[in-house]
Amino acid sequence: MCGIIGYIIKEGGEKNLAPILINGLRRLEYRGYDSAGLSVINAKGEVLKEKSVGKIDSLVEKLKDQEFIGTLGIAHTRWATHGGVTESNTHPHTDCSGRIILVHNGIIENYRDLREKFLKDHNFVSETDTEVLAHLIEYFYTQTNKKDLRGSLIKALQLVVGTYGIAVVSLDEPNKIICARKGSPLVLGVADDAFLIASDASPLLPHTKKVIYLEDGEILELTPKDFQIFNLKDEKIARTPEEIEWNEEQAQKGGFPHFMLKEIFEQPNTFKDALAGRLVPNDGVAHLGGLRLTDEELRQIKKIKIIACGSAFHAGLVGKYILEHVAWMPTDVEVASEFRYRDPVVEDNTLTICISQSGETADTLGALIEARRKGSKVMGIVNVVGSTIAREAGRGVYIHAGPELSVASTKAFTNQVAILMVLALQLGRLTHLPLATGKLIIKSILEIPAKMQEIIKQNEVIKNIAEKYKAYEDFYFIGRGINAPIALEGALKLKEISYVHAEGMPSGELKHGPIALIDDKCPVMAIVTKDSLYEKMVSNVEEIKARHGKLILIATEGDEDVKKLSDDIIYIPKTSEMLSPLLTVVPMQLFAYHMAVLRGKDVDRPRNLAKSVTVE
Ligand code: AGP
Repeated sequence: MCGIIGYIIKEGGEKNLAPILINGLRRLEYRGYDSAGLSVINAKGEVLKEKSVGKIDSLVEKLKDQEFIGTLGIAHTRWATHGGVTESNTHPHTDCSGRIILVHNGIIENYRDLREKFLKDHNFVSETDTEVLAHLIEYFYTQTNKKDLRGSLIKALQLVVGTYGIAVVSLDEPNKIICARKGSPLVLGVADDAFLIASDASPLLPHTKKVIYLEDGEILELTPKDFQIFNLKDEKIARTPEEIEWNEEQAQKGGFPHFMLKEIFEQPNTFKDALAGRLVPNDGVAHLGGLRLTDEELRQIKKIKIIACGSAFHAGLVGKYILEHVAWMPTDVEVASEFRYRDPVVEDNTLTICISQSGETADTLGALIEARRKGSKVMGIVNVVGSTIAREAGRGVYIHAGPELSVASTKAFTNQVAILMVLALQLGRLTHLPLATGKLIIKSILEIPAKMQEIIKQNEVIKNIAEKYKAYEDFYFIGRGINAPIALEGALKLKEISYVHAEGMPSGELKHGPIALIDDKCPVMAIVTKDSLYEKMVSNVEEIKARHGKLILIATEGDEDVKKLSDDIIYIPKTSEMLSPLLTVVPMQLFAYHMAVLRGKDVDRPRNLAKSVTVE
């Protein structure tokens, strides 16, 4: 996700702020980005600005013959969500006059509506949702005779639906930076000679360890004299700085020991980002921009083929159940490395969906090209904006999971499943799915983040379970129906970061061979949630119990019956069967994480693996 840094010199005075802002951006590089920019305001109220696509070094190259002498400055690294990777889309963004200058991290879901309703006569230079916010502030600012930037920002934010971490300045009030936070972190740093604002604490550490983490709904006003915090009613809030003892790496992980755990914990929020602006609850419909297919063309699709690798493949397997159940859409799922070489038959009216977090996986890219060569329409479900698969597909959906830095995919996986759910709803409501069912599906989807959070709260419980099993060298993961792919995903998570041999399979397959391996040295993690296959899963668990297999069960909260079959049990909230993979996967992610930590492995950078497999 994007990175923000802001700096204002205390007690006035001016200096070259470019090196300070650049060094701040460099400490945010780990977040992933595709362009960067900065603006500095001097005591005369003039603005100096520069932008560049590519790495920060490209921006530094542009700055090298310039001195950005000023009293305050804001800077930004952009992780593209709305709009391609272009200089015009790079932050900071401005209003029509160029006198309001803003950087933003997050997603303004209703930016199109706001532009349509309030900003018809404004001139826009970018495709971003952020620029709309700059103009919306201008809309209110001009009504205050350009004298109340904070009040104008508050009025604008009261209309915004979405998430934001914002820093905004105005040449008409050149001695202040106004910040706001909702869903995208912002941290205030109180140094001896300056106030700073940043997306996490790492850029602050060279200047101060005295910080205040803004809360959702808080507005921060920085001037050379002091800082003040307000709520969205413009009422002052008393907050005092805390002293953090983190080093840079700890600050980048937000205090988490590893990026993987941070990314598991981010899932309730990143899941919301996947859905942002794509569901219409009142009509029980979904709308995925970027498909570049009319409703009629979507109705013409008679088959979907999902192609992917690893965790993305497992998300595709979940997608098969969802697309066939919700949209009655015949769906095949294939491993990309097999599809591309087997001279596949691609039927007419097929839509091939290539799922890839990185958008750079060579096998998936090769399969996309092969499917298109065979006449299939293709689309991507990708996390990295502007990646090769996204561009090659020419149409598709970004999952908005933010940069996934741990090699083991977690938040990208759940967002891939989320997008497949939204696609199934969109297709279903174009054909047979009734309004009431569509509304019910949306209601269940919107309840998922809170239910994920309930499971994440059991992190210590799951850590204690992992402690009991850390010495085991073999594991089975089993599930049925839509949770059979989650058994595969749970096994992949465990093996790829803890190096324990783990095998996932549909439970019904046990009796066809694998049960021969069941004994007290081969624990089994089983998904036994209250769904249409519950009784069959209970039978499988009893078969394992009878052979002295150790059982870790993932069960529906309140189910006391199944507890007597377990050696350990992890309860998850009840949800619809179609959405249950979004919950059953979370205990498996946490279990794998703790097993790897307890076994002393390099959790974020496991041996032999790369985050993006760009070779065959
Ligand atoms: C998942 O935890 C693994 N890191 C790996 O299987 C990954 O899902 C696979 O390589 C596909 O990567 P992609 O989504 O970037 O295409």
